[in-house]
Amino acid sequence: MAYYQQPLDATTLPAWQALQQHRQAMQSFSMREAFSQDAERFKEFSLSTSGLFLDYSKNLITTETRDLLVRLAREAELQPAIEALFRGELVNASEGRPALHTALRRPVADRLNVGGVNIMPEVHRVLGQMTDLVGRIHDGLWRGYSEKPITDVVNIGIGGSFLGPQLVSEALLPFAQRGVRCHYLANIDGSEFHELSAGLRAETTLFIVSSKSFSTLETLKNAQAARAWYLAQGGTEVDLHKHFIAVSSNRPAAVAFGIREENIFPMWDWVGGRYSLWSAIGLPIALAIGMSNFKELLSGAYSMDQHFLTAPFERNLPVLLALLGVWYGNFWGAQSHAILPYDHYLRNITKHLQQLDMESNGKSVRQDGSPVKGDTGPVIWGGVGCNGQHAYHQLLHQGTQLIPADFIVPVVSYNPVTDHHQWLYANCLSQSQALMLGKTRAEAEAELRAKGLGDDEVQRLAPHKVIPGNRPSNTLVVERISPRRLGALVAMYEHKVFAQSVIWGINAFDQWGVELGKDLGKNVYQRLTGSDELPAEDGSTQGLIDFFRGRHRG
Ligand code: F6P
Repeated sequence: MAYYQQPLDATTLPAWQALQQHRQAMQSFSMREAFSQDAERFKEFSLSTSGLFLDYSKNLITTETRDLLVRLAREAELQPAIEALFRGELVNASEGRPALHTALRRPVADRLNVGGVNIMPEVHRVLGQMTDLVGRIHDGLWRGYSEKPITDVVNIGIGGSFLGPQLVSEALLPFAQRGVRCHYLANIDGSEFHELSAGLRAETTLFIVSSKSFSTLETLKNAQAARAWYLAQGGTEVDLHKHFIAVSSNRPAAVAFGIREENIFPMWDWVGGRYSLWSAIGLPIALAIGMSNFKELLSGAYSMDQHFLTAPFERNLPVLLALLGVWYGNFWGAQSHAILPYDHYLRNITKHLQQLDMESNGKSVRQDGSPVKGDTGPVIWGGVGCNGQHAYHQLLHQGTQLIPADFIVPVVSYNPVTDHHQWLYANCLSQSQALMLGKTRAEAEAELRAKGLGDDEVQRLAPHKVIPGNRPSNTLVVERISPRRLGALVAMYEHKVFAQSVIWGINAFDQWGVELGKDLGKNVYQRLTGSDELPAEDGSTQGLIDFFRGRHRG
């Protein structure tokens, strides 16, 4: 049976047992020593593919660790699972669907059947539809109700219909085309709507209602607010089609909202929201950077797909990252993983990876419904460097938790300002170095003595100055972010998440937990607004409802 019907229990595999023993043997492993003993360590534990260079030498690993982890991936039958993913098997078992984001980057000549139909022509037909729209907007041929060209595009969407497009369109700002500004409206917070709309003119604004389901509360409420705003600003119902388009797999709901059939870009149930930036959900990206750059983004992701599918695990970038995550999460007790981009343009990558990783692997039952035996997805957090160094890095250096980190840094800046980039790059490297080297008691004492402090003072202060070190990190270096390299980078993380889900036996493509919050949200709303007078299920929620109602009474 396929892995998604009957997942293996990785904890019973011989490689898992061997890794448990190996973990004991690694208790006193020192990266400092490993580097001083092995001049080749950097070479041994680094690789490059698809325009990305990974240095994973600053990890608590030896070649034996890597061998055992790779053995685990083999025993967990990762390779057939990857092939099943790409073939379009029903890997999302709880929803009975394939997860075919990889199809969105494949050449048209490929055949890929879903339900007996080759989906590749449809994928490329939609790319053509996107090309047409983007061309008309960029050429000023798509005009608003007052015959002026579109200057601003507002993407109304949340979760996967927001985070991926926002990351990419903002990361690729150096590739921005012809003055179309992209904005994002996600939250059901009147302040967000107010602040955004205050800077827009309805006659030159195009709204993309981006929702796979066309049933997401936040998106529908924002779409209604945008429509009311557009009418209040002078737009008319007759011209609505010039200002509202949609991306959705729920065509009837989009039509019922008032979007014209020809202005609805399709989505398919075989693409998950958090994996959808490669589809028409990526329209704001294409509008920001142009269609040829969007295709470059797809080709970068395709290159990573081919690497993931064919490279041996020892040299497979997403697989190695996945295995390192398993190593720390399941054998060293790490609970979180930091994503630290040293690049202004990549500042939103942590948010995108939070959804990608945490919504995918935040699971505690396996594909067959049985409970998992160990920890699954970690908390993903972090943010742009150097800012984080002056905020939360302290906990990385001297806190009690082991937190592996990914540093991501370009070698070349798009915007050299004196020696800023040298300093930025230096800070990135010195942080991973400090995490790894730390500062010993002897070094701390010597430093204090060198400052002329007496013995008592040295002994009093030294414990505070000791940095444990031996804290693991990966460094991903790119020449500089381009559509191709960004495509590869994001696809790399998608595949990392998938590879981990296979080892843990969980479904990376459903998100049932999110649904509970949505259902309860409706109940609470009815009680807040008085349309349901039944008391809440618990005293805390009722107390908070009373607080709100007390403030809004009369
Ligand atoms: O947050 C839950 C979720 O279902 C995500 O998986 C999805 O990306 C988001 O809502 C938005 O969904 P939709 O595109 O259907 O509006």
